[in-house]
Amino acid sequence: MSSYIQVGVVGAGTMGAGIAQVAAEAGHEVHLVDANPDALKGAESNLHRIMNRLVEKGRRTKAEAESAMGRITYSAGLTSMSDCGLVIEAIVENLEIKQSVFKELESIVSRDCILASNTSSLSIASIAGVCELPSRVIGIHFFNPAPLMKLVEIIPAIQTSDATLSSAKTLVEAWGKLTVVAKDTPGFIVNRVARPFYSEALRIYDEGLADIPTIDWAMTELGGFRMGPFTLMDYIGNDINYEVTQSVWTACYYEPRYKPSFTQKRLVEAGYLGRKSGRGYYEYGDNAVVPTPKKNEEFGQDILSRIVMMLMNEAAEALHWGVASRDDIDLAMTKGVNYPKGLLRWADEVGIHWIVETLDRCFDEYREERYRCSSLLRTMARKGQHFYE
Ligand code: NAI
Repeated sequence: MSSYIQVGVVGAGTMGAGIAQVAAEAGHEVHLVDANPDALKGAESNLHRIMNRLVEKGRRTKAEAESAMGRITYSAGLTSMSDCGLVIEAIVENLEIKQSVFKELESIVSRDCILASNTSSLSIASIAGVCELPSRVIGIHFFNPAPLMKLVEIIPAIQTSDATLSSAKTLVEAWGKLTVVAKDTPGFIVNRVARPFYSEALRIYDEGLADIPTIDWAMTELGGFRMGPFTLMDYIGNDINYEVTQSVWTACYYEPRYKPSFTQKRLVEAGYLGRKSGRGYYEYGDNAVVPTPKKNEEFGQDILSRIVMMLMNEAAEALHWGVASRDDIDLAMTKGVNYPKGLLRWADEVGIHWIVETLDRCFDEYREERYRCSSLLRTMARKGQHFYE
């Protein structure tokens, strides 16, 4: 595919505007479309503000910023997309609305135009399923903020052709992104494998085993994670984080490992959404009380081990069920959510035996499916195998 194709972006919200910036800065002519004129105006002024700031900070020259902004056109209708070689949809997360946009797009673009969705939780197969040429439909999942986050998950549906997959990958990599390929399954790689980071932290708290600042301290100071789980949930927004958990849990037929927590649900119901509402697990603002962790190293190691062990089990399950390759799972978690190490490489370091034994101890204690050990780990432990040589 030519690298000079025109790119269409449908939806000028948080993600669409960011994706438009990425494509325009990579040299493409970009058509940004939104049904809501205010959203278009908002995106245009935000993009100009962001680019001006980059110029002030010396990260872009004035000429670079101006020419990138000059490549983006804003319109309310999809007809401006007729000459696009790639269209990325980033509208509201609603299957029927997405399906109708894809159908309309097919009546406008040429037959060799790739149609991509930035959906976080819907299946790509269900979007491709309403298209006349489903082989050109694919998931291209950016992370927020799209211009800053290096990782992009590429999700071929069962209908997607190899040519569509390889063109999408090549193009997104030419935009300076790192791509990983994920199977069309709930949460793809990152939103699935990361679940225990939040849910096991909540579980430890819900059981009264440790308080919130102590869990966050253990994960950052002892584990090397950039943010503790509760700080991160407050940062993401408890409404959004709860919604992702709920969506992965239901889409996986109520898999017990993904079960949401009442604690988080109540926070959402109370409007304690995190930083954006001034209060979540922590308080924010000038007079906020900053709670102190109980810095007991041995106790902290127990917390860290339990959460990390659950993450490693999740990564092993993702590999076992073919969600992605070993390397892509490790890359996704280090580049997508900044984990200190790839989980499978880390599993080798701590020892597969240890993970199996620790999970089995939890399983025996609780008798809950949540703690069942991946059969892949069990087999590997028996055979003395490692993920890496
Ligand atoms: P948003 O709510 O900020 O923006 C959505 C935009 O789509 C709005 O401006 C709305 O006016 C427009 N829109 C709705 N229906 C439309 C239609 N029929 N035609 C044209 N425009 C339409 O949403 P956001 O957060 O940017 O999310 C967009 C998509 O990206 C969703 O599928 C979401 O799951 C996915 N996503 C979101 C991430 C995030 O962190 N916000 C991260 C990765 C993916």
